[in-house]
Amino acid sequence: MAEAETLVAATVPEPAPTHPLDAATGAELTAAVGILRASGRLGEKAFFAAGYAAEPPKEVVLGFTPGGAWERIIRLAGHDRGRGESFDARVCLTRGEVVAFDWVEDGQAPVGADDYFAVLKALAGDAEWVAAVKRRGIEDLSLVHVEPWVAGGRHPALPAKARVVKVIAFLHSHPEDNQYARPLEGLMAHVDVDGGQVIVEDHGAVPMPTHPAEYAAHRVERMRDGLKPIEISQPEGPSFQVAGNLVCWQKWRLRVSMQPTEGLVLHDVCYDDDGRERSILYRAALADMVVPYGDTSPMHSWKHAFDAGEAALGVAANSLVNGCDCLGEIHYFDATVLTGEGKPRTIANAVCLHEEDYGILWKHTNYFTREPKPEVRRSRRLVVSTIVTLGNYEYGFYWYFYLDGTIQVEIKLTGVVGVSVTPDGADSPTAPAIAPSIASPIHQHIFCFRLDFNLDGRANAVDEVEVLPAPPGADNPHGSAFHAVARRLRNEGEAQRDVNAATSRHWRVVNEHVRNALGKPVGYKLVPQASSTLLAGEGSLHARRAGFARHNLWVTPYAPDELDAAGGLFTNLHSGANGLPAYAAANRRIEDADVVLWHTLGVTHVPRPEDWPVMPVEYAGFVLAPTGFFDANPAIDVPPTPHCAT
Ligand code: NI
Repeated sequence: MAEAETLVAATVPEPAPTHPLDAATGAELTAAVGILRASGRLGEKAFFAAGYAAEPPKEVVLGFTPGGAWERIIRLAGHDRGRGESFDARVCLTRGEVVAFDWVEDGQAPVGADDYFAVLKALAGDAEWVAAVKRRGIEDLSLVHVEPWVAGGRHPALPAKARVVKVIAFLHSHPEDNQYARPLEGLMAHVDVDGGQVIVEDHGAVPMPTHPAEYAAHRVERMRDGLKPIEISQPEGPSFQVAGNLVCWQKWRLRVSMQPTEGLVLHDVCYDDDGRERSILYRAALADMVVPYGDTSPMHSWKHAFDAGEAALGVAANSLVNGCDCLGEIHYFDATVLTGEGKPRTIANAVCLHEEDYGILWKHTNYFTREPKPEVRRSRRLVVSTIVTLGNYEYGFYWYFYLDGTIQVEIKLTGVVGVSVTPDGADSPTAPAIAPSIASPIHQHIFCFRLDFNLDGRANAVDEVEVLPAPPGADNPHGSAFHAVARRLRNEGEAQRDVNAATSRHWRVVNEHVRNALGKPVGYKLVPQASSTLLAGEGSLHARRAGFARHNLWVTPYAPDELDAAGGLFTNLHSGANGLPAYAAANRRIEDADVVLWHTLGVTHVPRPEDWPVMPVEYAGFVLAPTGFFDANPAIDVPPTPHCAT
């Protein structure tokens, strides 16, 4: 929940959109909200959870020419507390009318600030909650930090369609302390934020941990010394150009946007190959994520947060600071989001764009003659990044573009781990002890990225490639041969695949209609990291709701409405079996089709003492690399740096 992000009012008039992929301006969001309200569909207790410019169909975007017109549609989602239902609306600004409106049957709009305030109000007035807090020896309720959680499911005593938020709580000893260090162990509540009903679950008070667990600089006892400054100097400025949301850097060209559930979205990623502009990705973004807990404790066993869909991760973007979050010559993009009351607000510096030196790109020394001198080229990368805060966790999402055509995605996981109190220091395989009196439940962070390839056009196919020992025989006289074996994935059923590091398994997108200099189809490969899939059992609620997490790869044919791995804006309280597994159940053909790859990856987090009181960054990610897309090393033309050239 993002109650603390920096809010900055827009002071400069925003330019009107000139491209179908331009973000909605504050004025557009205000106009759309006005049109929806005037239609009389929303009650007095309705609030907004998300508003953004809906992308036109692919044909419209690809066929767009500068100065052209298109229908501008704003999607608005929210919840009406009077009805107890969430709404999904599309307002056409071109026509000035609501063009689609639904009360959502299964699932609800993301949990946000409005729900948080409703939780605080309901708990403050609930005698049972107050009594349970006081049973823990706490008299000053203002010191209790209440942490709302997306519920996953509903307590059976609450109405079948209740908007439920679950609550755990912590005790502050000081307003600036680590607010997660002293859990009110054993105490949680189910709050119907529409009706105000509270169900308290008290599994028994446990003595509060007393050890310090501070991370704020002014509260850490002693800082190390000896770290001299590192400054990044780019005296001639950065090598990228930005116009609106269009970014050009070296031979790359792409567009950048922020969406409520997906966060950072990249559009229309192209590479200039000797004057020939070649498309690679039409659209790439996080399609959802889930954080299932493996602990059996009643305080944690229900947790499986979809931070993108259920908590609107894009709305929780941090305002980034040069020298802290990123270093160098930075261009920042702001993001305009919608408040609960339907007003635009700007998150300043929500997306960071900068360049990084990245060691050597390539090198060779003629070992025998040492003449001429070694040839070395410096690698550098363009970084597009955003960082979101969701309760106790931070996620950084980084897209890297390299001079040799490689694209890399890196997720940085940090923040404060979830904890239990274990007064006697006892731990278990599902909740290892990480500090005196503190255990932390085992859990996973599983991300699903949707990669809509347009590799030199829309008609693509996907091969699975594995490197296997060659069978014994005349073709393998020494028994030492191994070979790369490619297998075409023909339909959605065949394309539900898992990582296998032992065979270097990877997936290659090809275009059979475009050949390289060797006469082979051009290709790009998705190289996964060793990555687990969902560990929750098949029969669990977690598995039913997070079907996308069961496989590392899925491939579907492009469909304009299939953007979300789970329930998108209405993942919250959805009963499951939606999203990616539902799309793929049609078992559509994916050969010579407009393919979309969905890559599920993540980390299984066995918490360790070093993760406390704040967790050093853990990394997850994957790489997209050209494989026969170019005729040779595309970075042969990178000049040596002046230092190497002399
Ligand atoms: Ni974790």
